[in-house]
Amino acid sequence: MLNERFDLPLQIPMTHRVCFTRGAFSPGSELVVDLLREGGGRRALVFIEQSVVDHWPQLAHEISETLAKADVALAAIEIHEGGESAKNDEDLVRDVWSAVERGKIDRHSYILCIGGGAFLDAVGYGAATAHRGVRLMRFPTTTLSQDDSGVGVKNGINCFGKKNWIGSFAVPYAVVNDFQFLFTQDETTRQIGLIEALKVALVKDGTFFEWMVDHANQLALGNEEALIECVKRSALLHARHITTGGDPFEMGSSRPLDFGHWAAHKLEQLSAFSMSHGHAVSIGLWLDVIYSVKSGYLPEIVSKKIGRVMETIGFPQYDELLSQRDATGKLAVVAGLEEFREHLGGRLTILLLQAAGKSVEVHAMNENWIEECIESMRDHSFAMIESSKDRVY
Ligand SMILES: NC(=O)c1ccc[n+]([C@@H]2O[C@H](COP(=O)([O-])OP(=O)(O)OC[C@H]3O[C@@H](n4cnc5c(N)ncnc54)[C@H](O)[C@@H]3O)[C@@H](O)[C@H]2O)c1
Ligand SMILES: [Zn+2]
Repeated sequence: MLNERFDLPLQIPMTHRVCFTRGAFSPGSELVVDLLREGGGRRALVFIEQSVVDHWPQLAHEISETLAKADVALAAIEIHEGGESAKNDEDLVRDVWSAVERGKIDRHSYILCIGGGAFLDAVGYGAATAHRGVRLMRFPTTTLSQDDSGVGVKNGINCFGKKNWIGSFAVPYAVVNDFQFLFTQDETTRQIGLIEALKVALVKDGTFFEWMVDHANQLALGNEEALIECVKRSALLHARHITTGGDPFEMGSSRPLDFGHWAAHKLEQLSAFSMSHGHAVSIGLWLDVIYSVKSGYLPEIVSKKIGRVMETIGFPQYDELLSQRDATGKLAVVAGLEEFREHLGGRLTILLLQAAGKSVEVHAMNENWIEECIESMRDHSFAMIESSKDRVY
């Protein structure tokens, strides 16, 4: 019997281009023109989210001028609705495939996608699967997509009622964080998206956390300078983790950037995706902070400091869905642990905090402790509502 095996190392050199600018398509800007020229592609297809066009009606014209300047032919500009509902079925993905086919877009062409995290995820999945992958240039337009999701290497849509069940890892050709888009978001979207900055600060960078403590009031008021600095620092921490953390396509079991996400994804599902990702992450993060204290890893004084920053910036810390029970009387959110493990594969790995910027991984969570944490979160939230009747999360 012949048994031969060759384990051939395969390395794919890749560059993750992450850019920061203001007015990427304004007449004086060369950034996008240079990126297009460097790639050598000759055709482009553009997807813009409707709500972005509503605020930036001149955008389509500016994009076509930019492409012309780079000598790239415009196949079409497609404008579609975004938001989480764009991820709840495959319509937008199919629209991408059709437009690629109609527009004679090949693997050396570009797809430019301008929109929030949900729109980027759905269009990104269409781009990654058409012809097995067309070059994608992402232009994230929300706080959350600029400080986290847009600078990552994942895309996807929801399926079977579960978050991001369909999707792929695909390094975009470039990400351009254009800060001008941050200022047309509604206040809630603008603020809540900073939760991913708090998350990455707590997991990776205690100095950045202290900066957020010092600038919490400015961040709460949407101060332009503070918002931009926060988004940029967060984006670079995320991008550096992906490029230097040793596991860009998440083959192992450790997911530090998913701190607080096991409960968050379950809460989104329990809300039938009416709760935004940022809102859910905020509650999930706070649960894991409280749990870190309960399990003896995090000093309570640090959790109080985190809680105060969250209150100042306006991050929600509780929702009734956390206390929802299934038919057997068990807390519904607890099923999120196994769903999280199954989605990521491997061994359940949950990150808990030891300090701001220092963490530990555990492989099980105590359900009684989770229950006690949720009770204390609920009590605290009721106390907050009593002392501040006009505050709405
Ligand atoms: N791929 C990843 O690695 C990754 C990581 C984290 C989160 N995500 C996903 O990102 C999504 C959340 O992204 P999000 O927070 O950007 O939400 P979102 O995409 O739903 O956008 C929020 C709202 O802002 C609107 N909007 C977008 N840009 C705007 C602008 N410039 N001005 C005015 N309105 C604007 C949208 O139409 C939407 O109504 C979730 O689906 C989440 O699962 C993906
Ligand atoms: Zn997230």
